[in-house]
Amino acid sequence: MFVAPDLSKLSKPELYRELAAQLSALIQDETDPVANMANCAALIFHSVPKLNWAGFYLLKGGELVLGPFQGQIACVRIAFGRGVVGAARTTIRVGDVNEFPGHIACDTASKSEIVVPLTSDDSHLLGVLDIDSPELNRFDADDEEGFRAIGKIIAAKL
Ligand code: SME
Repeated sequence: MFVAPDLSKLSKPELYRELAAQLSALIQDETDPVANMANCAALIFHSVPKLNWAGFYLLKGGELVLGPFQGQIACVRIAFGRGVVGAARTTIRVGDVNEFPGHIACDTASKSEIVVPLTSDDSHLLGVLDIDSPELNRFDADDEEGFRAIGKIIAAKL
């Protein structure tokens, strides 16, 4: 019988390795991108500590449109180039969202944020994975590496 490890006992790199493995298993037999993003958002939100929002914005017609997420109701459309979401050509870690020019406050509880761009095999932007925390400076290099690995797995199914 498969017994899921106690995630609270893992180091950050171990946690993200475990989540990447769980995500790969969750989505391997499913081709529907919305279903896969929905389960990915739920997996992150309920497994990574101290988050208040986890989800996706997808590039559609030149703007980023809200996709599957967990957390409070969020802004639906973000113009390309606006906010952290619209600025993410590479991964952006924001330690204090109030210091980020143009940050869009969907949930006033958010204090720090990380946004990972999701790209196709030929490097076109498909959307972003956006994670918010109610703590300042919540995300470090380990979180970035972990979310980038998760982003790669999900981008391959978009
Ligand atoms: N704060 C983001 C907007 C999306 S929410 O965090 C869910 C931004 O500035 O782009």
